[in-house]
Amino acid sequence: MHLPVQIREFRFPSDYEQVFELWRGIEKGVHIGRSDTLAEIRKKITRDPDLFLVAESDGNIIGAVMGGFDGRRGLIYHLAVATSFRGRGIGSNLMDEVESRLRAKGCLKSYLLVTLDNIEVADYYIQRGWQHMDQVHLYGKELQ
Ligand SMILES: CC(C)(COP(=O)(O)OP(=O)(O)OC[C@H]1O[C@@H](n2cnc3c(N)ncnc32)[C@H](O)[C@@H]1OP(=O)(O)O)[C@@H](O)C(=O)NCCC(=O)NCCS
Repeated sequence: MHLPVQIREFRFPSDYEQVFELWRGIEKGVHIGRSDTLAEIRKKITRDPDLFLVAESDGNIIGAVMGGFDGRRGLIYHLAVATSFRGRGIGSNLMDEVESRLRAKGCLKSYLLVTLDNIEVADYYIQRGWQHMDQVHLYGKELQ
């Protein structure tokens, strides 16, 4: 029998350690970088704290997703579910909730990034109504 899973907002800073460990333990698809330190997450949650969600079971964080809305587009980062909890709809529940919260803010369109080493997860998103955007290349620049 599975214990119930609750989707709730990320609490800063008390959830940080568990979420960071969850992300760090993900085999691929979640790349931990300098934006994932405690200080940077503190900065992130000054905006859209209601778009950073976790899945909790029996007091343990077993899933997470971090959304953002810049007033025009949404962005979804670091969707992850602990291996032993996969295939139970927890990832879909996290995505449903973050998408519905983005929609409620008036967001018309959202993006998410799939790394090239994790391309097989594309089917997961396509099933959920996401489309590969083959008319754009994504560019980035380090500003600090
Ligand atoms: C992607 C992920 C969050 C899905 O979580 P989950 O809780 O298992 O998802 P759900 O239970 O809602 O959906 C499971 C379904 O998606 C499919 N699926 C999940 N991950 C998949 C993958 N990497 N490739 C292909 N299909 C996948 C499963 O086969 C399953 O299909 P089924 O219901 O027909 O059996 C989880 O596999 C994960 O944490 N992966 C590693 C991190 C990652 O890749 N994150 C995405 C970054 S862009």
